[in-house]
Amino acid sequence: MKFTVKSGNPEKQRSACLVLGVFENRRLSAPARSVDKASHGFIGGVLRRGDLPGQPGQTLLLHNVPGVLADRVLLVGCGKEREFDETKFQTAVSAAARYLNDTGATEAVNCLTELPIKGRDLYWNLRQAVIATEDALYRFEQCKSEVQKVRKPLKRMTLSVPSRRNLDHGEAAVREGTAIAAGMNLAKDLGNLPGNICTPTYLADTARELARKSRKAKVTVLDEKAMEKLGMGALLSVARGSREPARLITLEYRGGRKDRKPVVLVGKGVTFDSGGISLKPGQSMDEMKFDMCGAASVLGTLRTVIELELPINVVGIIPATENLPDGQATKPGDIVTSMSGQTIEILNTDAEGRLILCDALTYAGRYEPDAVIDIATLTGACVIALGSHAAGLLTNHAPLGNELLNAGRAARDRAWELPLWDDYQQQLESNFADMQNIGGREAGTITAACFLSRFTRDYRWAHLDIAGVAWKQGKEKGATGRPVPLLTQYLLHKAGH
Ligand code: BES
Ligand code: MN
Ligand code: ZN
Repeated sequence: MKFTVKSGNPEKQRSACLVLGVFENRRLSAPARSVDKASHGFIGGVLRRGDLPGQPGQTLLLHNVPGVLADRVLLVGCGKEREFDETKFQTAVSAAARYLNDTGATEAVNCLTELPIKGRDLYWNLRQAVIATEDALYRFEQCKSEVQKVRKPLKRMTLSVPSRRNLDHGEAAVREGTAIAAGMNLAKDLGNLPGNICTPTYLADTARELARKSRKAKVTVLDEKAMEKLGMGALLSVARGSREPARLITLEYRGGRKDRKPVVLVGKGVTFDSGGISLKPGQSMDEMKFDMCGAASVLGTLRTVIELELPINVVGIIPATENLPDGQATKPGDIVTSMSGQTIEILNTDAEGRLILCDALTYAGRYEPDAVIDIATLTGACVIALGSHAAGLLTNHAPLGNELLNAGRAARDRAWELPLWDDYQQQLESNFADMQNIGGREAGTITAACFLSRFTRDYRWAHLDIAGVAWKQGKEKGATGRPVPLLTQYLLHKAGH
């Protein structure tokens, strides 16, 4: 989809379709009011007849609206005017995108961007309109033998701004939104691909392909032999049960000054998590193909960073493997030595994410990072604690945590902090090794982070548990592309945006 920005009276826009917001109780948005005036009360008349009560996301297509140059007018309900907020904005924009895609209009002028939202500015509206539109139109069809073609898909959308003075600023917002949406789409595609296609090798190939797009990007891929040499016994203990070779993928982007320390993003890349010998129950096990969504968000974020050529240094590190049962697989009770030298008693092979992350986090120290953020579908407990609205955030550095929480709020991709108090560390004590890999039933998300914290003592570190937010279940099952918006927002801030 191609987005542009334009100012001017809505009724004077030559377009296949003009999109206008209307509120409940027949209240018109400013652009709708302008059209109503030009059409001598046509819009008001339609609403008076009760055809569009105005609940969020309702749509009504009008033809032959007098005094309007556009072929059609699409009215979109926005709820009560006083209650209009970010969520309703998103609902309205998505509804418009879906409706337009199913009508004959391949192009439209969208005036929803002019609706004021408390605490947000025009830049935000424009950027978010791009992201919400791309999100609404996303389809995963790579694995269908026959793709249902949309008869006349929406191809171009013009976003309306109040004045010519907003155009430059608006174009920057669109550019940013487009890059974020592209990063999210990559993360969604990788997440949605099945485990037999999206293997560790596939993730490595994707990273290589990404790096080809920029001279500032470079990829290195370590195989199991190289990991052995580095002493990554924890990571390799997970890979033992799988015939699919594990990979440690590093994607370095150097867009900033040479002497600037990089932000390192570490993404969990378990391309399928069966639980291993501690086998998971069969119900919904297919969803464990999404257990590489942390890795996908790292690649997605780097895609956005590369596209925007941000003047910062970012390193993405992805430990990638499957977790499967096998005669050679790691067994409960096995003890392994991590790259850090610390030994781990593996009491549950299904707590594999922390095992691959701990070695990747030790490896991250080599980059003398400014900060390290790991992103992982780490614990079912996080889904219980926060549901699907917020990612869990745990950190050893409060200011870093706050930056990430703020980035999440700004991008509407929120995280919520859980405590990383030392009090929880005792749950990881083992009789036989330096630590065990599970901490019992209580506070599962926190003890998982406590485990990781034992490998991140040398730098500022934050952990995002995205188990609840990375994909949707049910009829709309699929990857969400989160937390690419949060991560890019954090990096945009670093880049001085
Ligand atoms: N990938 C899972 C976490 C997960 C489960 C995410 C369900 C989303 C939905 C992770 O590897 C795992 O299995 N964690 C265990 C840890 C436990 C054994 C301590 C869990 O959460 O049950
Ligand atoms: Mn697991
Ligand atoms: Zn897992």
